[in-house]
Amino acid sequence: MALEKATGSDRPIQDQLVKSGDIPRHIAIIMDGNGRWAQKRGLPRIAGHREGVNSVRDIVEACGQLGVRYLTLYAFSTENWKRPREEVSLLMRLLLKALRDEKDRLHQNEVQLKAVGDISTLPQDVQDELLDGIEKMKNNKGLTLILALSYSGRWDITNAISRMYDDIRSGVLKKEQITQDLITSYLSTRDFPDPDLLVRTSGELRISNFLIWQIAYSELFISQEYWPSFRRTQLYESIADFQRRERRFGMVSEQLHSSEPTGEPLRGMERFVKSASKP
Ligand code: FPP
Repeated sequence: MALEKATGSDRPIQDQLVKSGDIPRHIAIIMDGNGRWAQKRGLPRIAGHREGVNSVRDIVEACGQLGVRYLTLYAFSTENWKRPREEVSLLMRLLLKALRDEKDRLHQNEVQLKAVGDISTLPQDVQDELLDGIEKMKNNKGLTLILALSYSGRWDITNAISRMYDDIRSGVLKKEQITQDLITSYLSTRDFPDPDLLVRTSGELRISNFLIWQIAYSELFISQEYWPSFRRTQLYESIADFQRRERRFGMVSEQLHSSEPTGEPLRGMERFVKSASKP
């Protein structure tokens, strides 16, 4: 589907996307390129992070309008702590300000805020603001916005293994019970489905220790835009691209296209699960 550029109201483009295929239930984004966006303009790196907050606002809003159920944003990785102290400190101030400024608007838009990562390592005021937002929005029924903060995939898996070990030692868990689903249930992302679509901005072809377990079958979309220039138009392109993919989950194409009693073509795992459970 060719997407026109959003002018004025972008409702027609959203309607077109909803009609043309599945809207990913869960989108995860590696927001990259803030520094380069700023440097290209002769600005300090923090100016890129500031403009990046405007992209966050736009993408959250567009995802909510499209009916995306979960949006996970890689806002601060475990490795980001190794950046110059000054940049880390400015990023934490910016996060605090964004949480304070956006909380009411998010709440009005029925967003449910969540966080994954080693939250205890964040400055106390950021932790307080975050937990306050999570509590305030816990009963909302709209988009679930998951902020990955002080997060890395290896941190998550290491943490899960350590807790599984404790449970085995205390007799709560037996070795025979270890399955992929059980491991998933020990991860910090246990309450959310795996991402259907993983977007990375700024053209880099890396996962950067993001949701390494959870993206086993996610579709990848690499945008050449730096994060501060990644707005809803680019999001729509990523979704249109997603809709052109055939998600096979390790099967062959024919298995996905055999006829269903309803005549309705089902996609990927949903179809597989349905046909596998037939008597
Ligand atoms: C990557 O760009 C971006 C980050 C490490 C931070 C992302 C943070 C924000 C967009 C602001 C706060 C977020 C929320 C959720 C309100 P980079 O600095 O690695 O860019 P570069 O690769 O060009 O150096």
